[in-house]
Amino acid sequence: MDITPDFISKKTWDKVLNYIALSDEPPPYLLMDREVVAEKVAIIGKNIRNAKVFYAVKANPDIEVIKLLNSLGVGFEIASEGELQLLASLGVGAERIITSNPTKTFRFLEQAAAYGIRYYSYDSAAEVEKLARYAPGCNVYVRLSVPNEGSEWPLSKKFGAEMDEAANLILYAKEKGLTPVGITFHVGSQCNNVYNWNTAVEKARELWEMAEQNGIKLRVLNIGGGYPIRYTKNVVDVTTIEKKVDKAIYQKFPQDIEVFIEPGRAMVGDAGIFVSTVIGKASRGGENWLHIDVGVFNGLMESVGGIKYTYVVGSRSEVKTWTLVGPSCDSFDVIERDVELPEPEVGNRLLILSSGAYTISYASEFNGFSIPKTILI
Ligand SMILES: Cc1ncc(COP(=O)(O)O)c(C=O)c1O
Repeated sequence: MDITPDFISKKTWDKVLNYIALSDEPPPYLLMDREVVAEKVAIIGKNIRNAKVFYAVKANPDIEVIKLLNSLGVGFEIASEGELQLLASLGVGAERIITSNPTKTFRFLEQAAAYGIRYYSYDSAAEVEKLARYAPGCNVYVRLSVPNEGSEWPLSKKFGAEMDEAANLILYAKEKGLTPVGITFHVGSQCNNVYNWNTAVEKARELWEMAEQNGIKLRVLNIGGGYPIRYTKNVVDVTTIEKKVDKAIYQKFPQDIEVFIEPGRAMVGDAGIFVSTVIGKASRGGENWLHIDVGVFNGLMESVGGIKYTYVVGSRSEVKTWTLVGPSCDSFDVIERDVELPEPEVGNRLLILSSGAYTISYASEFNGFSIPKTILI
C-alpha cells in the first residue's frame, strides 16, 4: 500500500505499513499510534484556564492505552466497576478519578466510595439518595440538559435535568448532606457545532446563579466531552473550540472557577487504524458487496449510528460502489452503503482510519468472532 491518506501523518502511515509488513499477528487488529495519543494529551485542555483533563475511559479502555495516558499524567472519568478495577490495577489514585455517569450501579457506587473517589454526577433525586447512602458528603455536580444539535452522536436524550429541576436537585443534594460543587453537561459526542458549547456555558451560568441565590456557592464547571475528530470531513480543531469555551467561561463565571474536561473520542480516535482483511466479494441484488473481517459487532458499532469512516485499500483497480459488511451471518452487520473504493482482491488488507475510539470498547464476540486485539505502535 503506497497511498498515504491526506489526514494521517506520513510518520503514522509508515509505522502502520511497517507493522503490517513485519508482524506475524493475524488481522483483524487495531493499531494505536502512541505519538498521536501523546500529541492529543499535549493539546487538550491547554487553552482553557484552570482546566483539569479526565479521559473518558469508555472510549478505549485498552490497558496499554490507559498505561500510556497514566504515564502522561492524565486524570480519568469512569462509569463502572470494570473501569474502576482497570485503574486500580495500575494504582491510579482516587484523586485522579471522577465519575460522570448520572445513574450508577449499586456495586460501582460501593466500590468507588471505598476506593476514595470524591466527585460524582447526578440528574435525579433517586441518585442523590443513592449517593447520600453510599458516598456520604461526596462532591457532586448536577448534569444539566443542553442542546446537542450538530453532534453526530447526541447524548442529550438519556441524561440531563432541565433548569428548574436541576436547581432543585442542587438544593436536595445539600439537604441530603452531599457537597454540591458544580454543574456538568455534555454537548454530544463528535460535536462539530461550536455554538453548542456557548449555549451550554450560558445555561450553566444561569443555573450557577440560581444556586447562588439559594445560598449555595459552586466552584466546578465540568464541560464533559464532545471534541470531534476527522473521520471523512474536516472538523473544528480542539484549540479553536477551547479558546471560545475559555472566553465564554471567563466572561461569565468567577475567575477562580475550576474547569473539568472529559474527552474520550478526541484523545484516542485519531490514533487508531483498524487493519482488516477482505474476506469476500459478491454481486447481490444489483449491489457490489465487500465482506471484511471487522464489522458492526466486533468493532464498528458506531457505523450503525452514522459514523462514517475512511477506508483505504492498496488496489489501483477501477473504483466501484460497495456495500461494506462485516463477517457475521447477521444482516444487521452492514458497516456502510455506497462506499467508493478501488476494487480489492479477496485476501487484501483494508484499513479503517480514525478508529481508535468507541470501536473495541463496543466489540462483542457475537457469532464466535473474537474481539480484535489492540496493539500500540
Ligand atoms: C459523561 C461523559 N463524559 C465524557 C464522555 C466522552 O465524550 P467524547 O467521547 O465525545 O469526548 C462521554 C461519552 O459518552 C460521557 O458520557
